[in-house]
Amino acid sequence: MHIFREAGALRAWVRGQKQQGHRVGFVPTMGNLHAGHFSLIEIARRHCDRVIASVFVNPTQFGEGEDFARYPRTPDADANGLRDHRCDALFLPQAGEIYPFGTAQGVSIHVPGLSDVLEGAARPGHFDGVAGVVCRLFNLVQADLAVFGSKDYQQLLVVRRMAGDLGFPLEIIGAPIVREANGLAMSSRNQYLDAAQRENAGIIHATLCWMCERVRASDMHLADIERTASARLSEAGFSPDYAVLRNAGDLSEVNEHVRSGLVALLAVRLGQVRLIDNMACDPAL
Ligand code: PAJ
Repeated sequence: MHIFREAGALRAWVRGQKQQGHRVGFVPTMGNLHAGHFSLIEIARRHCDRVIASVFVNPTQFGEGEDFARYPRTPDADANGLRDHRCDALFLPQAGEIYPFGTAQGVSIHVPGLSDVLEGAARPGHFDGVAGVVCRLFNLVQADLAVFGSKDYQQLLVVRRMAGDLGFPLEIIGAPIVREANGLAMSSRNQYLDAAQRENAGIIHATLCWMCERVRASDMHLADIERTASARLSEAGFSPDYAVLRNAGDLSEVNEHVRSGLVALLAVRLGQVRLIDNMACDPAL
């Protein structure tokens, strides 16, 4: 596996691969990789001849008091895992490579609307940081395709909108959520949970399944589904930030009479740890 620390060298390599007729796939990450991340590499591999991953803990998407300094950095284990999953190249930039004018002086990108609700409301500026870094990475890497997990469903929508609006000539694929045996979505934050909390966190997935079942059964008002879901999470010891049903295409508010094309999304806190998860209520989505 090639390891590139400079964008120029990575670009030259990508150019060479494309000249040989290879289709190039890209998986951006912040490292501390787990099976969820590796599933994205495998999906990229199915669509492409060459796969590049990036590991960059992006400072601009962390708010004040969030865990940027403490974000787990495990570059050796990440490189080994990527090698095992037959990744062809790893981009490991320093901040200066991504933000040549510094983060305060850098160009920023805002995706209106989508960035301001749910996770965006809970974490002001977060999606500007995400849209900005993904835009920079897309530009530096010049891949044909990029894969994002639907674990971060709102992020996937923000990135799609950013890339579509700015005319990036690349295909974006949304990948299914990889879960632990009890349904807990894999996340680098799960390591902050103790064994009992981790087991108990199965209620998050169970709640999403229940919400989607109620939507499909049409036996409860949508607002009641949301209320009951929140109450179930609270009873299980979680503090829900939100447990909602939204239109899957743009996260707009739902209409009681339309029960197709919905997604259930939730965010809960357990002590210091904040977990997010979601589920499409239409099996076809
Ligand atoms: P990170 O949290 O490292 O996640 C990288 C990618 O892995 C994202 O597309 C995320 O949705 C996906 N992912 C994480 N857990 C997953 C799971 N359990 N199943 C499937 N996919 C999963 O998301 C980011 O980094 C950053 O915001 C980034 C896009 C790299 C920009 O800095």
